[in-house]
Amino acid sequence: MCGLYTCLIALAAVFPAVLAECNRTHLFEWAHNFVDAQALGFAGYLDGASDDFVYQENNKTMDLTAGVMRKMLKIDHNRTIADSVTCSSYTEIISADAAQPYVIGAQIHHNPSDMKAYLVDSIVSTTGSWLFNATQTLHYALQENWGVLPENKRDTRTTLKNAADAYLNIWSNKSAIDAVPWGTPCARLEGGAYTGKGEPNDSCKVGIPTNNNQAPNSHRRYVIDETVGSASVLCIFEHLQMAPDSHEFRLEGGKLRYVHTITVPQK
Ligand SMILES: *[C@@H]1O[C@H](CO)[C@@H](O)[C@H](O)[C@H]1NC(C)=O
Ligand SMILES: *[C@@H]1O[C@H](CO)[C@@H](O)[C@H](O)[C@H]1NC(C)=O
Ligand SMILES: *[C@@H]1O[C@H](CO)[C@@H](O)[C@H](O)[C@H]1NC(C)=O
Ligand SMILES: *[C@@H]1O[C@H](CO)[C@@H](O)[C@H](O)[C@H]1NC(C)=O
Ligand SMILES: *[C@@H]1O[C@H](CO)[C@@H](O)[C@H](O)[C@H]1NC(C)=O
Ligand SMILES: *[C@@H]1O[C@H](CO)[C@@H](O)[C@H](O)[C@H]1NC(C)=O
Repeated sequence: MCGLYTCLIALAAVFPAVLAECNRTHLFEWAHNFVDAQALGFAGYLDGASDDFVYQENNKTMDLTAGVMRKMLKIDHNRTIADSVTCSSYTEIISADAAQPYVIGAQIHHNPSDMKAYLVDSIVSTTGSWLFNATQTLHYALQENWGVLPENKRDTRTTLKNAADAYLNIWSNKSAIDAVPWGTPCARLEGGAYTGKGEPNDSCKVGIPTNNNQAPNSHRRYVIDETVGSASVLCIFEHLQMAPDSHEFRLEGGKLRYVHTITVPQK
């Protein structure tokens, strides 16, 4: 037996990440520094990484300076969500520079104990990636509103995660189609391809796979931010040449509003 206070202390020792809210300001600051580092093509700018820091690009571990970070990119758009429960963030970066176009989705994971970043897990797409056209991606992304939702209109983490999982389950489970909280209007931005027509009846159900015996989109990694109704999931899209993949979802009032995908088939 223990009193409330001593029990909380005992619990905090076992599950520190559950009780302590992560510092969102720090998560955003680190993500913004990451974007700045990408703009400068200089990873040395990144302070506050742990000793065992790992960088992954398209599901391969590599030196931070061996990947896209060695290039100076013109940043046309960047948007970050932060998960104060798991101490992580996700940033969408679009560089529509014709000479070296990139669309990047980067999850950054921090140790709750000291807030140092221990993993940058990044999906990096460029010319040749699935439906890639950074000019179009930028065009459509800028039309959308992924802004902060009023507190009384926010969905729970569970709702956001279940919606994301149901969507990714469609490829392997036909009944998952009915578990997705489809919204109207809803638009999907897949590479540079957009399903939205700007109509109030735009639907995300168009062209949803009817072959539901495909691979399960496994190895899912999540970043969830209730304040903007968003869930980022990185996974392996096995049925498209084992493609490293990023899906980001935005829900409004429990319903799916936007889906963004970045998919890099392994040729
Ligand atoms: C949160 O992080 C910011 C930026 O690193 C820092 O200035 C602030 O002191 C931190 N807040 C707390 C409560 O630790
Ligand atoms: C990234 O976006 C933020 C606004 O959210 C902006 O202040 C910042 O300048 C952008 N970074 C770059 C390198 O463009
Ligand atoms: C790549 O993906 C597979 C799952 O298909 C996973 O087991 C493996 O750990 C991943 N590799 C890296 C470096 O993340
Ligand atoms: C991207 O899409 C735009 C608009 O449809 C088109 O003009 C341009 O040629 C495309 N760019 C590439 C590299 O395919
Ligand atoms: C398929 O999806 C439905 C709806 O989400 C779920 O109830 C069922 O358990 C799933 N089946 C499998 C095999 O995962
Ligand atoms: C939306 O409505 C228009 C007519 O206003 C119709 O042409 C179109 O097919 C509808 N789209 C969907 C997805 O139902």
